[in-house]
Amino acid sequence: MTTRRRFTLTQYLIEQRRRFPSASGDFNALLLDVALACKAIARSVAFGELGSVLGHPTPEVATSVNVQGEVQKKMDVISNEYFTQMTEWGGHLAGMASEEMDEPYQIPETLQRGKYMLVFDPLDGSSNIDVNVTVGSIFSVLRAPQEVIDSGRDVVAADFLQPGTQQLAAGYALYGPTTMLVLTVGNGVAGFTLDPNLGQFMLTHPDIQVPVDTNEFAINASNARFWEAPVKRYVDECLAGKPGPRAKDFNMRWIASMVAEAHRILMRGGVFLYPRDTKDPSKPGRLRLLYEANPMGMIMEQAGGRASTGEVPMLSVQPTSLHQRIGLVFGSKNEVERIERYHAEPIRHELDNPLFTERSLFRDSHY
Ligand code: AHG
Ligand code: MN
Ligand code: MN
Repeated sequence: MTTRRRFTLTQYLIEQRRRFPSASGDFNALLLDVALACKAIARSVAFGELGSVLGHPTPEVATSVNVQGEVQKKMDVISNEYFTQMTEWGGHLAGMASEEMDEPYQIPETLQRGKYMLVFDPLDGSSNIDVNVTVGSIFSVLRAPQEVIDSGRDVVAADFLQPGTQQLAAGYALYGPTTMLVLTVGNGVAGFTLDPNLGQFMLTHPDIQVPVDTNEFAINASNARFWEAPVKRYVDECLAGKPGPRAKDFNMRWIASMVAEAHRILMRGGVFLYPRDTKDPSKPGRLRLLYEANPMGMIMEQAGGRASTGEVPMLSVQPTSLHQRIGLVFGSKNEVERIERYHAEPIRHELDNPLFTERSLFRDSHY
């Protein structure tokens, strides 16, 4: 039997660096440290109950709450530690920011500081961890402001407030039936599968492309009564199926792990919506701009898909705070553009469209 020659993640990164002959290699070294953190998390997750990693950090009472006001799982904390420990030593980072840390993380003074900043959601979909459903990690690499690099000073939240277009790399790891790493360094999107025998990420999905059309959408329909009109219209039209204005049947999915939904969409198309809604006026959306929406946005755009707030391209948004939330729509290009059109059009009234006076499933009394 001949074995198929496959590239490792390291080889892929070396190939990418050849496009920039003057590059130092720091960037690649950082990404390999991130990959190591993801492998460590994958091992922890795989032991599940046997590894005593499920549940909350304090078993009796779930008191540990992160900056989002969300109860932390043990694995949220463990994953965060893997990220900081595996990446702080290399000398490539000026600082980090994470969903699980209120303030930016400082590289200890005993270690060298570098020119990049790492932003991450160490465990996405962590509500799924106790029920053995796919979770993942999401990360983004930014360049530190020049003055931070020159002075070596501590990083502050303002240093991270860069629009998504400034990201140098973005990726996610998926801890599912197989462990995968999906990565963009600004030259398309590549997917790697962890070979458990070798402990190496192998290039299995070079140049991932999101199909531009789809008949699959993902949204948490329990929020329907809080949706804004353009989102209601979009979902209503999908649900109307073949006899409706879209003239085709749609399928619906909701895993409650954005990484898992994003991966499905990268593999076979689809659209994901966690739009801004009226549920809690203090939260303009559920997902976080810097470590969820922006990295996923860069990956989608690099794969020929699209990411948006519904109103403007996600990557154009100027962040205003480290843990800012935002409405997020991403996936197959034509579908995301349609949702953007619905947001741009003046609000239509139901009476304009007699079909939906009869058929709307997700509709409240005044729309
Ligand atoms: P996290 O576990 O990092 O807090 O993120 C969970 C996110 C996202 O992965 C998922 O799409 C969404 O929250 C699920 O929200 P609902 O519980 O409202 O479905
Ligand atoms: Mn998350
Ligand atoms: Mn998380």
